[in-house]
Amino acid sequence: MTADSQLKPQNLPQHVAIIMDGNGRWAQRQGKPRVWGHKKGVEAVRRSVSFCRELGIKSLTLFAFSSENWRRPEDEVSTLMQLFLMVLQSEVKTLHKHNVRLKIVGDLSAFSDKLKANIAKAEQLTADNTAMTLNIAANYGGRWDMVNAARLLATQVQNGTLTPADINEDTFAAQVQMAEQPELDLLIRTGGDVRISNFLLWQAAYAEFWFTDTLWPDFDQQVFSEAIAAFVNRERRFGCTGEQIRQLATLGKG
Ligand code: IPE
Ligand code: IPE
Ligand code: MG
Repeated sequence: MTADSQLKPQNLPQHVAIIMDGNGRWAQRQGKPRVWGHKKGVEAVRRSVSFCRELGIKSLTLFAFSSENWRRPEDEVSTLMQLFLMVLQSEVKTLHKHNVRLKIVGDLSAFSDKLKANIAKAEQLTADNTAMTLNIAANYGGRWDMVNAARLLATQVQNGTLTPADINEDTFAAQVQMAEQPELDLLIRTGGDVRISNFLLWQAAYAEFWFTDTLWPDFDQQVFSEAIAAFVNRERRFGCTGEQIRQLATLGKG
């Protein structure tokens, strides 16, 4: 089967997340400062959003800045914050024109007032768009996400709107980030490292993982297609046996 014939809508992931790693090394390999790689990485973001729109993928979640990335040298952190603000301001109109809803997921409290105001404005402008949702994970940590969900549930218990017995996987899942979107199907990491780096710990429970040595600024439609083709060829069993899954697939076709 060719990659093209495998890209049938019914087989495609609905929600893809990417750990966009390798910007620093990409720049250093060309004798440039690390921040050059972050700037070039913006082009790979644009390409990825277009690719998902063309394929009809409903949610794309990009890891832009982790809760641990504050540990980096101050000048890199401040350049990343400036870049985030600039890109937000320059890209939001195009996203809106293409009917893309923008969401920033993460602990926004750490950002400057200016950045927070721009985030709110961009989210409001695009709130009703329906082609796809682009989630940018900024100051995001999977552990933060779960602790935040626990705190929200505790507040409901305190208010008397929930009892401890009501806390289960469904009520918890409703409080984590992106609860209103399709479940995460595919998690991609560029840059050669094989780890999750505190990304979507809850949401990735049954996601398929795909790793590539490609550094983020080099990530293009070709590499993205390879990831999608790999996903399409996987058998997702969710705890069942392969026989059960194949039987279900036959019933579905009948
Ligand atoms: C990913 O690229 C972008 C961010 C974490 C902000 P890196 O900056 O981690 O690049 P490498 O991994 O050092 O090459
Ligand atoms: C993960 O990359 C975070 C982002 C891509 C934003 P890192 O480069 O920060 O991850 P580690 O530190 O190598 O695990
Ligand atoms: Mg890195």
